[in-house]
Amino acid sequence: MSDVTISEAGNILVLATDQGLFRFHAVWLRDNAWDEETRSRTNGQRLIALRDIDANVTISAARIDDGTVSVTFAPENKEIRYSLGWLITNAYDRPQRTEKGWLAANVETWDATLSDKIPSDDFGRVATDQGAKHHWLSGVARYGFGKLTNGPIEDQALMRVVDLFGHVRETNYGRHFEVRTEVNPTNLAYTGLGLQAHTDNPYRDPVPTVQVLYCLESSAAGGENMVVDGFWAALRLKAENPDWFGVLSRYCTRFEYAGDKGVVLRSRRPMLELAPDGELTAVRFNNRSAAATTDVPFEDMALYYEAYRRLGEIIDDPAMEVTFRLEPGECFLVDNTRVLHARKAYSGTGTRWLQGCYADKDGLLSTLASLQATMHEAAE
Ligand code: FE2
Repeated sequence: MSDVTISEAGNILVLATDQGLFRFHAVWLRDNAWDEETRSRTNGQRLIALRDIDANVTISAARIDDGTVSVTFAPENKEIRYSLGWLITNAYDRPQRTEKGWLAANVETWDATLSDKIPSDDFGRVATDQGAKHHWLSGVARYGFGKLTNGPIEDQALMRVVDLFGHVRETNYGRHFEVRTEVNPTNLAYTGLGLQAHTDNPYRDPVPTVQVLYCLESSAAGGENMVVDGFWAALRLKAENPDWFGVLSRYCTRFEYAGDKGVVLRSRRPMLELAPDGELTAVRFNNRSAAATTDVPFEDMALYYEAYRRLGEIIDDPAMEVTFRLEPGECFLVDNTRVLHARKAYSGTGTRWLQGCYADKDGLLSTLASLQATMHEAAE
């Protein structure tokens, strides 16, 4: 049985429910009204600005009947109805997370043991079956990477992967880039080198948030792809020494790329990026494009390097990495704000041809949320 009362001279509504007691400010309730003068019936966008709400807005009456909470606001003398369920879902009068490095509820960290259950599906199935696409994109959102198999083996096939969830992000490298490797005895030492796991293009702001790598040819032995969960690496670092986590999240690193004529890309961002309330939102780690660090005070620079070194060691720890081989027609994508990727060293001769491109995570999450809503409606 739910109940509503007005307190603090009409400034606060107190909602007592079987899920707890929730307080709401009058201005919050008025701002979040769903009547047709406040919100567009067609696209849900707010039609008023805060300046249209009286700064001294109060609640003059409130009642609850059958799961609907009706609130009358003064001085407008306007009654707004809210669904009880919506108010409970959106209640903010609950403990909020503030510790440094918390993760969103739908994010699950992983290490090498994820190898047995890599989020992977068949390209054709994901392209034609909404349920399969929803399942695959959910996995990508949860783990920050996913693989597709049995895709077309043709130039630019990666664009068809991006079409599944969003749009390409074009950069100075073009709409896509070629990763061709010819491994033979004379240059094996050079091209066969493995790379340290990294996030791509940390020198951009914002960084490309999704990367797709698509395999078209693979006859060289070795050269497997591997991925590491940057969030898990950051949390391991924090567990070992909170000061290490603190110094890498508190100060900015500088990244730069000026390898092409007419291109000087620079950014100033922390390696471990937190939202103001402490949520871990992004990891940037790329030894090749780190510029001189100049934003760390002298007193903290030794600690900064200690933390940077240890984070690198954790990233290099084989217990962290998920390794897989891409065959022609297979691809993987990573959340480039979280998951680091690398190529392992080659062990034989042959060729390898991959195409890569960037896309945006907000588009991917939008496609996922929209599929979720459609499936939810269909199930009702
Ligand atoms: Fe890369």
